[in-house]
Amino acid sequence: MTGRIFLKLITAATALLLLVAASVDFFTTEITRESYIDNLRQQLSEKARMLALSLPLDRESSPQLVRGLAEAAGGRVTLVATSGKVLADSDADAARMENHRSRPELIQAFHGKVGWSERLSATLGIPFLYVAVPVSGGAIRIAVPLSEINRQVHEIRFKILASTALAFLPALLLAALLARILSRRFTEITSYAAQLARGNFRARLKRPPSREFGMLAETLNDTAGNLQHTVEQLEREHAELEKLERVRKDFVINVSHELRTPLASIQGYTETLIDGAINDPAHNMRFLSIIRHNAERLARLTEDLLTLSRVEQKRQKFEFEMHFVNDLLRDALELVQPMAEKREVQLKLDPAPEDATVWCDSEAVSQVLSNLLDNAIKYTPAGGTITVGGSPQGQFMEIFVRDTGIGIPPEDVPRLFERFYRVDKARSRELGGTGLGLSIVKHLVAAHDGTTRVESRVNHGTTFFFTLPQDEPVAGHSLNPEFTAS
Ligand SMILES: Nc1ncnc2c1ncn2[C@@H]1O[C@H](COP(=O)(O)OP(=O)(O)OP(=O)(O)O)[C@@H](O)[C@H]1O
Ligand SMILES: [Mg+2]
Repeated sequence: MTGRIFLKLITAATALLLLVAASVDFFTTEITRESYIDNLRQQLSEKARMLALSLPLDRESSPQLVRGLAEAAGGRVTLVATSGKVLADSDADAARMENHRSRPELIQAFHGKVGWSERLSATLGIPFLYVAVPVSGGAIRIAVPLSEINRQVHEIRFKILASTALAFLPALLLAALLARILSRRFTEITSYAAQLARGNFRARLKRPPSREFGMLAETLNDTAGNLQHTVEQLEREHAELEKLERVRKDFVINVSHELRTPLASIQGYTETLIDGAINDPAHNMRFLSIIRHNAERLARLTEDLLTLSRVEQKRQKFEFEMHFVNDLLRDALELVQPMAEKREVQLKLDPAPEDATVWCDSEAVSQVLSNLLDNAIKYTPAGGTITVGGSPQGQFMEIFVRDTGIGIPPEDVPRLFERFYRVDKARSRELGGTGLGLSIVKHLVAAHDGTTRVESRVNHGTTFFFTLPQDEPVAGHSLNPEFTAS
């Protein structure tokens, strides 16, 4: 490709140079010849005038004298009478020469002007430049052969051609260099455009020093940048959609699975009872209590799913009010006190400043705290301690629930707030968990413009943190309009 472009450019440059050389040759030859003849005409007319002064125009003009004068003048000298009769000629026998009345240069001289003409001599048969000046009784004419003029013009022409050829060589080399640079640039740009056409938008063209190519490279690079940006954005959107679709499918699978287990259990034990076990006092009560346990589990599951969907779809009605933080914490501890006692876990309050308030829906915060405390109690062995407290963090109040329980492995932490995610499925189920508690926490906190995070060390304990605004938000500012579901 580079070779082809180079060949085209160099051919065009050579043709252009040849054309320039030919026209230089033509015009300079013409101009030189013209100015040379002009000059010569002037000189000859000067000489003729001089001769006219010194040479009387009569029949006695001896051929020797005319020849001597011709030699001194450097040309052929002819004396012609007004009648056209040649009186003397330095190069020919005047007596044998025809009447010169009709010679153009002499016609002009007989009219009192300096006459000249360029033509073939009828006497000598070679081309001459004739210049004639009037004298009394006729005219004096000096002629020089044109062959001499032509020789000199050719000499000058040869010199001009030689110097043109000399200049032609470096010009050709320069043209070759330029053609090489241009062909390379064209090839670079063409192959870059081909890369773009193949969809490789990451490649960038090096900016060449020349302005035009530089601007072209910049425009192409900008185009590639825009395309790359658009493609990346589309890829991101595509990945996001795929992720949402995966989440949706997982959710449907999880819900069906979570419902199927207790339903199958209820169905199985009911059939067993109907088939006669109802009359078996040794088992009937145990079977009924299993049925009740699974029914409760189903009720809790559907309740949690409904809450989650309401909050996610922003259909949950919140009643935001100012509340003292410590009141909320104390109420939450009171609610779980019986469960903590049963599990032999100690509950402690690390109070926030007494007058500290939060702008929240107390029902929602109570649910958040009870979910976190429920987990803390469930995953803390007997003898452990659970502490709740709060501390102001800028415009927010950060509330924490700390336990001295089993902890969470670091690899599980990032997925903890996903729906149905449980570190130990069997253990969670055994403890009556649905895996929706933390997901609900996250959404309820987000609806308050707050954030949720967790710190945990396996076998040492876990602390969950969440934030709530300390003050009512500025009017018109909706509470966390962009929180996302997971
Ligand atoms: N304080 C904690 N200590 C150790 N593990 C915890 C703690 N809190 C939560 N987890 C882990 O996170 C998982 C998810 O908790 P989440 O509250 O969402 O579900 P759950 O407690 O299993 O069920 P649910 O709360 O719906 O009854 C739990 O199954 C448990 O493995
Ligand atoms: Mg829970």
